[in-house]
Amino acid sequence: MRPLAIELWRQLADGTLKSGDELAGVLNVSRGSVMNAANELLEAGVNVYKIRGQGYRLPQAVELLDAAQLNTLLADLALPLEVLPVIDSTNTWLLQGRREQPRQLVAAEVQLAGRGRRGRSWLASPGGSLTFSLAWRFSLGMAALGGLSLVVGLAIVRVLRRFGADEVMLKWPNDVVHQYRKLAGVLIELQGDMLGPATAVVGIGLNLTLDTLQRQQIDQSVADLSMLGVQAGRNALLAELVRELHGLLQQFEHSGFAPLADEWTHYHAYHNKSVRLLLGGGQETQGWVRGVNDQGALLLETAEGIKPYHGGEVSLRRLESAL
Ligand code: BTN
Repeated sequence: MRPLAIELWRQLADGTLKSGDELAGVLNVSRGSVMNAANELLEAGVNVYKIRGQGYRLPQAVELLDAAQLNTLLADLALPLEVLPVIDSTNTWLLQGRREQPRQLVAAEVQLAGRGRRGRSWLASPGGSLTFSLAWRFSLGMAALGGLSLVVGLAIVRVLRRFGADEVMLKWPNDVVHQYRKLAGVLIELQGDMLGPATAVVGIGLNLTLDTLQRQQIDQSVADLSMLGVQAGRNALLAELVRELHGLLQQFEHSGFAPLADEWTHYHAYHNKSVRLLLGGGQETQGWVRGVNDQGALLLETAEGIKPYHGGEVSLRRLESAL
């Protein structure tokens, strides 16, 4: 999607009807370009009403992300933050040298090349999700960050439950699910030394409202917050997620994952379930999930006993349904 299409979407975000002339004036382009940009949005699955002879509008108003509002909501954290209308990927942005502070937040309205775990892409439409990344410099080396991804999932679950999504659960290592459908994903990328200081870029994508086209494009079963009846403002929700994450990352840095392991297991949708573990390179194993250890490794019981499996490229599937 070109920046013009995204700028058009931003102009329409208040939900009111705007004429082609008015939009062409504000965007400083021709009416034909406005029409092309509207078509581009439609092709990308973003619903725009084109009302003959009158103009364009979105089906409903969307609350745009607002750096000033976020700064006010998070003032006590003194966290440098930016909101970008469009970027390839918030994780990539922080990894590619735009990181000037030990802790830094960037959120995007639109990601043109959002990335997921295991080389997958992450799809989200303007206004229909939260996509953001938090860079966090740990004095611990990478070797000590084993439970980090589980901590991030826990922060999301705690917040969503506070907002009323009370059946939200975790799927090891860090997916957030509702009835085994994916609601949020976490991509953590590390830079630094195994033993010296390391920076984690923690990227989170949370589905707020997915439309039919997007559901068709995503190759797994998905959920969104609107299905769960949660009507949170985007800025308020983002601020709460960042606040919870901030608190839990501080705790993790100080005390590791061990004090959080029981709470994490309590929210694990696959606890004591029979699963397949895809180990990468076409290998897999089957067994019963028996919790997580103090480093965040999944404990799997097989005929040979209970063995820990670490995150990375390992992926979990329910045995009964292969979800
Ligand atoms: C997953 O595969 O489950 C992880 C998805 C992570 C998506 C988020 S969206 C914000 C951040 N930027 C990216 O490119 N990816 C992460």
